[in-house]
Amino acid sequence: MEKPLVRIVCAISVDGKLASIEGYSSFSSQQDRERLFKLREEADAVIVGANTILNDNPLLTSRGKRNPIRVVIDGQLKIPLNARVVTDKSALTIVATTAKAEQGKIARLREKGVEVWILGDTRVDLKKLISKLAARYECKVIQVEGGGRTNWEFLKEGLIDELQLTIAPIILGGERAPTLVDGEGFKGLEDCIRLELKSIETLRSSSEAILSFRVLKGK
Ligand SMILES: NC(=O)c1ccc[n+]([C@@H]2O[C@H](COP(=O)([O-])OP(=O)(O)OC[C@H]3O[C@@H](n4cnc5c(N)ncnc54)[C@H](OP(=O)(O)O)[C@@H]3O)[C@@H](O)[C@H]2O)c1
Repeated sequence: MEKPLVRIVCAISVDGKLASIEGYSSFSSQQDRERLFKLREEADAVIVGANTILNDNPLLTSRGKRNPIRVVIDGQLKIPLNARVVTDKSALTIVATTAKAEQGKIARLREKGVEVWILGDTRVDLKKLISKLAARYECKVIQVEGGGRTNWEFLKEGLIDELQLTIAPIILGGERAPTLVDGEGFKGLEDCIRLELKSIETLRSSSEAILSFRVLKGK
């Protein structure tokens, strides 16, 4: 079985933030949002972390003809039962969690039609998640849409092949504001992830730039 292509797609401010200190994250233009919907239409699965559900309550659909499977990584099962990815039935939702998750919450999510996958004792094993999405649902293109913690978890496991970043012409600032990649971080340049620039596109009317990178493997 071929490994799916896994790409990060996010909008960031010029100073690399995913959201403001108060969690305001919808700052890219309508044109960019339409581009994101097209990318979702091409993708077989879209993945986000639990905090993104808590903060943004996104639908994670393409608003088009074909919706990707929605996947939430939630080790402690903290997303609410009234989250839009739970109540909206236009696409399948999978919650990837751990053996620590409360059994009652697992049952309630399943009653609502959500698939709950236990993929680890204390942390969700992301390699297993990607393999299971490929094996069970033939996923070939998987899109990781943040937040910063989740992007880090995928990058540190060496699971990301490409990044597509929209740089919005704003500066949000704030040490506590989430950035494109958070987590523990790499200690030195010998560990860091290196990228190759594939393309730069500019959306002139909104002063946004879209940067596409390929992750260089085997360094
Ligand atoms: N501008 C954009 O395009 C964009 C896109 C997405 C999100 N955002 C913003 O980003 C912010 C959220 O980012 P965030 O970094 O706080 O959170 P996040 O990445 O959305 O979610 C982090 C959560 O996912 C869990 N998680 C991730 N990987 C896991 C693993 N391998 N095993 C178990 N649990 C795992 C974490 O668990 P632990 O707590 O146990 O580590 C944590 O609960 C929000 O403000 C949102 O608005 C912006």
